[in-house]
Amino acid sequence: MSADIRIVTERLIMSPGKSPDAYEFASFLRRNRSRLEPWRPDWPDGFDSEHECRQAIERDHKELIAGQSLRVLLRLKSDPEGPIVGTCALFAIRKRKSAEIGFQIDGSLEGQGLAREAAEAMIDHGREHLGIKKLIAICLENNQRSIVLIERLGFVFCRALNDFLTINDRKFDHHQFELKVAK
Ligand SMILES: CC(C)(COP(=O)(O)OP(=O)(O)OC[C@H]1O[C@@H](n2cnc3c(N)ncnc32)[C@H](O)[C@@H]1OP(=O)(O)O)[C@@H](O)C(=O)NCCC(=O)NCCS
Repeated sequence: MSADIRIVTERLIMSPGKSPDAYEFASFLRRNRSRLEPWRPDWPDGFDSEHECRQAIERDHKELIAGQSLRVLLRLKSDPEGPIVGTCALFAIRKRKSAEIGFQIDGSLEGQGLAREAAEAMIDHGREHLGIKKLIAICLENNQRSIVLIERLGFVFCRALNDFLTINDRKFDHHQFELKVAK
């Protein structure tokens, strides 16, 4: 997959991270830590450092080239050189053309439809350019905001995944949703 991907929506510019984005990516994670941490298995020391973010961007680049994932950073069209305001990803892309989707938006911009705008653009890109036919979204059963968005995108509940993820030494149930990506 080419790394020169730039998806432009009504309000957003979405593209894979590059090394110089590490500083802003780390700032995004630090600003949003209290909102993001509850849904993650862990937040290791240094996870939100510029160094670790640069390494994450390099890992993402390798996965992109290998066709395994497409992870993009979001910036506002009105401030294209400004802060990173979210991320969106198609990952675990499989040969039979299914993939998982994930998203996160800056707390200051929640409730404006930006996560939905990004996710819809990624779904379109996945269908048009990657041949994705089925998308999977997995989220903690009590992540209500995420579930609302997933259902608004047209995903349907598929199954409960008991004890799917360990967060802070406690096992949590998740819900799996699926979307057949229309041609
Ligand atoms: C999950 C998450 C991405 C949802 O973000 P969000 O901003 O609520 O989602 P949307 O972009 O769909 O915005 C929906 C809201 O914007 C409003 N909205 C305003 N303008 C809108 C527009 N033009 N289009 C659509 N919705 C719009 C909707 O009415 C809705 O408001 P409400 O929440 O008061 O009902 C966000 O809460 C988040 O980053 N959470 C932490 C990370 C996370 O949990 N990720 C998912 C892990 S599975």
